[in-house]
Amino acid sequence: MTVRDALDAAVAALAAAGCETPRLDAELLIADALGVGRSALVVDPSLPVTGAAARVIGERVRRRVAREPVAYILGRKGFRRLELMVDRRVLIPRPETELLVEVALELPPGSRVHDVGTGSGAVALALIDERPDLVVSASDASACAVEVARANGLSGAFVHRGLPLGDYDMVVGNLPYVREDEWSSLAPEIRLYEPREALVAGADGLDAIRAVVGGAPRGRRLALEHAPGQTEAVKGLLRQPRTLSDLAGRPRVTVGVAWP
Ligand SMILES: C[S@@+](CC[C@H](N)C(=O)[O-])C[C@H]1O[C@@H](n2cnc3c(N)ncnc32)[C@H](O)[C@@H]1O
Repeated sequence: MTVRDALDAAVAALAAAGCETPRLDAELLIADALGVGRSALVVDPSLPVTGAAARVIGERVRRRVAREPVAYILGRKGFRRLELMVDRRVLIPRPETELLVEVALELPPGSRVHDVGTGSGAVALALIDERPDLVVSASDASACAVEVARANGLSGAFVHRGLPLGDYDMVVGNLPYVREDEWSSLAPEIRLYEPREALVAGADGLDAIRAVVGGAPRGRRLALEHAPGQTEAVKGLLRQPRTLSDLAGRPRVTVGVAWP
């Protein structure tokens, strides 16, 4: 079997299973199984695939056909300059969450930042990586998520529901914001594999955000990720709100001040 054969078979199987990006997924799974970069598959499609590698590829394609996300199959996901370990205990970091990092990058030197609902540790770790002068802490309601964040190098991550006490210059949070009634219509990759408690937050999706804002002392600066349709509601929870949009132009992160 050659790389071309393996790719053709995988792309056909993934497309038939309804995967949105069958070629990209097949390339990522096969390149990793062969220990080469994706470009090597294009440069030399006649490369032979050994029996052992073919078995690994077959197993990975079977998992992807069952709509398991590529990041869980490979056990890792890129975020900013980092490669994070991910598994089913944590949400797979999304590109739009980089906006939270960008907001905190604007802080003055030495600022104290807390990442609430850190999950894999993506936001906190990116900040430590890009701004070593910041004093970064992180917490999550899920003990399993904290285990993953620590395994990713965020040794000080701790278990806490809501906003822990502390003197922070800014709190950043990608908390759950999916509405209960949206869950059943989400893609199988999310619904069947990602932790529900990392995504769903009550009837309007704002339970976790409201709890964190409500627990913040007056004057605390917060940057919160949310769904585009929740922008006005989140702005209403904060003083001097300013909303930033993602690359597709959708409002995604609101920055403002708590005013209990
Ligand atoms: C959408 S995930 C985001 C994870 C990570 N920040 C990221 O962007 O990849 C939300 C995280 O918040 C945690 N969480 C949910 N409710 C929480 C709460 N009330 N207080 C603190 N963490 C919470 C979940 O366990 C989950 O890890």
